[in-house]
Amino acid sequence: MTLVVGLNGSPRRNGNSARLLEEALRSAQDAGATVIRYDLAFMDVSPCKACEDCFVDGSCVIRDDMGAVYEALEEADAVIVASPIYFSGMSSYAKIAVDRCQALWARRTILKSARKPGSGAMILTGAQPNAKFDNAVSELRAFLIGIGVTPGEVLKVAGADGPSYSAGHPDVLAQARKLGRDLVSSISGP
Ligand SMILES: Cc1cc2nc3c(=O)[nH]c(=O)nc-3n(C[C@H](O)[C@H](O)[C@H](O)COP(=O)(O)O)c2cc1C
Repeated sequence: MTLVVGLNGSPRRNGNSARLLEEALRSAQDAGATVIRYDLAFMDVSPCKACEDCFVDGSCVIRDDMGAVYEALEEADAVIVASPIYFSGMSSYAKIAVDRCQALWARRTILKSARKPGSGAMILTGAQPNAKFDNAVSELRAFLIGIGVTPGEVLKVAGADGPSYSAGHPDVLAQARKLGRDLVSSISGP
């Protein structure tokens, strides 16, 4: 079984990130994968407290909805992070979950606990025609590498100035579907 986990960092239920992540996950599913999607803005996820307890056994002291996300991320063959660009970075919802993955970073880096190979991808949308994606890409690459997943394709959508922008652009939807399909074929072979 190939498992693809999607993290949505937008608070818009039917916005660009949600729609594009949905397209990517559906095409991954069509290609044979099992998919799980987490809409982080609607979950109980507290910020990392930097207590460093996870350095001891790789588990987080905070008991909230991240418990299920940790499990899914550890089992995932592929991870897709979708986020709107907020002030030239990822959204706060995405960043809170990313920081909580310090526990998974600790497993890899401090506790030397390897995971199976995994692939990562990003879907980022910004309203400005010249939206700046570099910060989010750099931080999300560090996140994916930190949890033990190899970063890959990045879909950057600039000029997405309304929640339904992506829904009205078949070319953008097609790129999201390709991203999902490519992820699965990179895992299981073409
Ligand atoms: C707090 C906030 C900050 C934003 N900052 C930027 C920005 O720096 N650059 C940009 O291009 N768009 C910015 N936007 C616009 C969103 O990135 C854009 O509307 C995006 O497509 C929303 O994605 P969503 O529909 O998935 O929520 C900002 C929006 C909000 C609410």
